[in-house]
Amino acid sequence: MCGIAGYVGPRNAVEIVYDQLKRLEYRGYDSAGVAYLDNGHIEVVKRAGKLNELHKLLEQTPRKSELAIAHSRWATHGGPTDANAHPHYDAYERIAMIHNGIIENYLDLREELIAKGHKFRSQTDTEVAAHVIGEEYEKGVPIEEAVRKACLRLRGAYALVVISNVEQEKIVAARNASPLVLGVGEGENMLASDIPALLPYTREVVIMEEDCVATITRTSVSIVDLDGREQPVKPIHIDWDITSAERGGYEHFMLKEIHEQPQVIRQALAGRIDEKGRVRLEQVFNEHVWTEIDRVNIIACGTAYHAGLMGKHLFEKILRLPTDVYHSSEFRYGDPVLSPRSLAIFVSQSGETADTLAALRLCKQRRIRTLGVVNVIGSSIARECDKTIFTQAGPEISVASTKAYTAQVIVLSLLALYIAQVQEMPGVRVDEAVAELTKLAERAETCMELEEQMKGIADMYRNMPLCFFLGRGADAHVALEGALKLKEIAYIPTQESPAGEMKHGPLALVQPGVVAMFGATEPDLRDKVVSNMQEVKARGGTIIAVTTDDDTVTSRASDDVIRVPTCVYPFMSALLSIIPMQFFAYHVARLNGCEIDQPRNLAKSVTVE
Ligand code: F6R
Repeated sequence: MCGIAGYVGPRNAVEIVYDQLKRLEYRGYDSAGVAYLDNGHIEVVKRAGKLNELHKLLEQTPRKSELAIAHSRWATHGGPTDANAHPHYDAYERIAMIHNGIIENYLDLREELIAKGHKFRSQTDTEVAAHVIGEEYEKGVPIEEAVRKACLRLRGAYALVVISNVEQEKIVAARNASPLVLGVGEGENMLASDIPALLPYTREVVIMEEDCVATITRTSVSIVDLDGREQPVKPIHIDWDITSAERGGYEHFMLKEIHEQPQVIRQALAGRIDEKGRVRLEQVFNEHVWTEIDRVNIIACGTAYHAGLMGKHLFEKILRLPTDVYHSSEFRYGDPVLSPRSLAIFVSQSGETADTLAALRLCKQRRIRTLGVVNVIGSSIARECDKTIFTQAGPEISVASTKAYTAQVIVLSLLALYIAQVQEMPGVRVDEAVAELTKLAERAETCMELEEQMKGIADMYRNMPLCFFLGRGADAHVALEGALKLKEIAYIPTQESPAGEMKHGPLALVQPGVVAMFGATEPDLRDKVVSNMQEVKARGGTIIAVTTDDDTVTSRASDDVIRVPTCVYPFMSALLSIIPMQFFAYHVARLNGCEIDQPRNLAKSVTVE
């Protein structure tokens, strides 16, 4: 959720950690701060607001240091104020600390410390943890030992980073549940909450395991577990293209990521289809496993949940395999009924979403087979699932997810086809469906040409009081995702449901000025959708239809018609229809002056429940 950065080496650490923070801005952005060593003291500079507020402060005085840590905060405990911004000192101002996550027992610890005379300057759980570390440090142990001992007293999910004015060569980091990566350089080392922050400086990265404490100096990286046992330090080489983690000339990351979707489709299929047109996913589970599975549960949040609904559609349509889709937050507390022969699939872009991770751990306790569909390599969900299929979409920076959704649906489609192939299901033409999938990237490229049309439509309706998103079959699932995009970045209220549900209540909201975006790509359901359009139109609503290029029916009932390529398998046209909906949300938000890549109240990776 929050962004963490740290650097020790010969360059100006203050500048480097600020740059790293900029690359992590999407993780959290209501306040930010830096701590660095300055002539034996730890200097802390922090400020509520966007990163450029911090930048203004940093620019006031020239600041040079060879060791610094930095943090961008997305508030959990205590509002976004200067005092609550990180870093925080301990009681003796000998250490400074930054932190991502939640210390669950911080109120008990705070009371305990207040009883001993500690005074706190903020309402944060982070400051409490800093005081706990400070207390351990007072016992005269090295800073990494103080952090390790303190971690045994902390409960919760966190990643924390500490510097000391006594051991001025070290940065110490501890990880429990929240992500943390170490970057290994030459004569310099660094750390961050996410890989893109490190890429300009090094491509050798150590993904920290949970319940470990790492110490980095200019020339060394060492890790121990919470029992103090030394752990291996195994860097992996990251060959991500650095420009793919930057905006690449687009005005916003979201727009860039929408445009990346043709390439993302190719990447998601890459290495997974052989020259005979067969799906290659045998590394997932042994073939016999697929014949044992009697039920699938797909568990995810937000956009990933919407991709899961498309997965259900395919698993049931292609495989006739009963499939349920759960919101992770409901699943984990819902005491779900799980067949021992079921498969639980966890869909997550970040691989760090707290509720999805908790749901995964619940399934593991119940000894259910688990499979991740995850984008971020080395993330917690990817590492904890029995098996993971990576969506290979590259880093997604915009808070509003676009390309990750498309990649998730492609991977779920491949999986459904792979199971059909393994089971030699009669009536499923895997080769034909695979051939269609391989044409999808090119068709998505055609959809990029819809941007101008969507810009015009966005301009016409940008002041709408309410926008319906409706459809039937696969279009109903895509409608949910289209609505989420519009509400989260343009703050326009939406009402999304299967089109057939309108008469059961939502129709009451229709009046002149209200816009209804109908997905109508499913040819077999189109007549029914057109009837629903008429119902909205008769009550003064405006109709935008997203349909296929061979459709001759919906234009009669619609004010605007958007056409995506016709695919042999209707769910593929439905998937393409998300592209104009993404453009619509983007351009409404842009025309209305909304902050697109960092919508209010939201963060990219939701690592608290
Ligand atoms: C919406 C969005 C969120 C995420 C959700 C799950 O645009 O991005 O709804 O889809 O927070 O995140 P992941 O996929 O990282 O588990």
